[in-house]
Amino acid sequence: MNQDLNQFRLQVSNDLSLVAPQLLHAKALYDLIQGQRLYFEAWLSWVERTKTLSDVRRFIREAQAFNEGGQRLTAFVNLQNQIVGSCGFTRLNMRHKKGEIGYWLSEPYQGRGLITRSCIKLIDFAFSELELHRIEIRILSDNEKSKGVPIRLGFQKEGVLRQAIWLNNRYHDMEIFGLLESQWTNMKKVDLGEGAVS
Ligand SMILES: CC(C)(COP(=O)(O)OP(=O)(O)OC[C@H]1O[C@@H](n2cnc3c(N)ncnc32)[C@H](O)[C@@H]1OP(=O)(O)O)[C@@H](O)C(=O)NCCC(=O)NCCS
Repeated sequence: MNQDLNQFRLQVSNDLSLVAPQLLHAKALYDLIQGQRLYFEAWLSWVERTKTLSDVRRFIREAQAFNEGGQRLTAFVNLQNQIVGSCGFTRLNMRHKKGEIGYWLSEPYQGRGLITRSCIKLIDFAFSELELHRIEIRILSDNEKSKGVPIRLGFQKEGVLRQAIWLNNRYHDMEIFGLLESQWTNMKKVDLGEGAVS
């Protein structure tokens, strides 16, 4: 891979972009998580382990190291120069040319298609620049809002991992959604109308 993923910046629209993590994002990210801790803890296991500003700084340093090694592509959602979430690859496997997308978004910014639109650009980038062959999204079965993203983008539900995640004192089933490069290319050839792959 010739890409330096710590230089990653992907313009989604005029005021929306995905940007590689930098330490200068730490305070904004900490404030965001702190303000919505209970909400995010319901869906994201790492939130419980991220309690202080220095935890966030450590997370960013680790993310930069994984980006540098090409094992992940952590990126933040930047809306009008404000960090409002994250959308990237929580796993990249260049040997098998596949990756797993992960995302979260500050609650007041939900319902506007920011993640769906970011994913469209990210998927285009991954299939063309990273030369991936397959993209997965793994989602807790009861996370209907999150499942809306791959469904809207034409991913195929490929299976259910039963009781695969221990979160908030119980096991959760996890669903796997998959997208192949050939499928994405075909979908882009078809006009699916507004809000769909364009
Ligand atoms: C999962 C999560 C990112 C989804 O957020 P979201 O805002 O619903 O997703 P999008 O930004 O793609 O927006 C889609 C919504 O905007 C609407 N929308 C408006 N304009 C749109 C557009 N141009 N394109 C697509 N959708 C649009 C859609 O109809 C949809 O709303 P609906 O669910 O009421 O139908 C968010 O709920 C979240 O952060 N949850 C907590 C963390 C989490 O669960 N992360 C995922 C772990 S797998």
